[in-house]
Amino acid sequence: MPSGEPQQTSSPDRPARTARPRELLMCRPAHYDVTYSINPWMHPEKPVDTALALAQWEQLRSLYEDAGHTVHTIEPEQGLPDMVFAANGATVVDGKVLAARFRHVERTAEGPAYLQWFLNNGWADTLWPEHINEGEGDYLLAGRRLLAGTGFRTDARSHAEAQEFFGVPVTGLTLVDPRFYHLDTALSVLSDDEIMYYPDAFSPGSRAVLRELYPDALLASHADADVFGLNAFSDGLHVFLPQAATGLAAQLAERGFEPVGTDLSELLKAGGSTKCCTLELRRPA
Ligand code: ARG
Repeated sequence: MPSGEPQQTSSPDRPARTARPRELLMCRPAHYDVTYSINPWMHPEKPVDTALALAQWEQLRSLYEDAGHTVHTIEPEQGLPDMVFAANGATVVDGKVLAARFRHVERTAEGPAYLQWFLNNGWADTLWPEHINEGEGDYLLAGRRLLAGTGFRTDARSHAEAQEFFGVPVTGLTLVDPRFYHLDTALSVLSDDEIMYYPDAFSPGSRAVLRELYPDALLASHADADVFGLNAFSDGLHVFLPQAATGLAAQLAERGFEPVGTDLSELLKAGGSTKCCTLELRRPA
């Protein structure tokens, strides 16, 4: 696969899809473990194989690089076992960095750690927020609209703060199922105007908003959502998603995307997968 160049596919009955090369930030799970429980997936009494987590993570990084994406890494810190979930580290739009402020004390130190990485790497336009927000875990950019989760982690008051900082419209969505505690566990942006989501993860009002904004959205089954199939990263053509989400992969292929299966089973023990390990760095236009 050539890297750096946009890749295209099309056929008479399917829309043309284009992959746009992205800049991503990831964190090696060198200190990954499940030592506390802040979501229903985490069982500290069950063993975690850190070596296997590292191998699965390296595989994901290779898949991104093979598809032409640039992967930056942040140094993992001892005592921060969830730091591998880079998506939670910040939200970056137009070169502006909204730092993360975590809900749980176990992850509080990750906010400043990620912010320091940005400052050290030339990202000067940053905001230390007033309100709790867990980065791209709850903020997903779809075209010029920021979809914003709340209900479990990100404070709804953060949504206004994000809108003011980025200057893009923010659409708040309320999550209601504790197994899908971050927006990126229940919804994935496929292109500027296409998403896929699991309706049951959202409040009735938020489901109605999603139907109104995205009448043609791809809807995930319970089985696919349950293996974290929606914790996916799309570059516009390739959709990197847990390989166990076979139904979603077929639905994506039907729509002209190229599903790329990932295996992060060891990270699922902390309630995270593909997208959770991936933070998109968006430069100014
Ligand atoms: N154990 C982590 C937590 O509960 C997992 C975070 C997953 N990240 C994500 N973007 N959904 O906070």
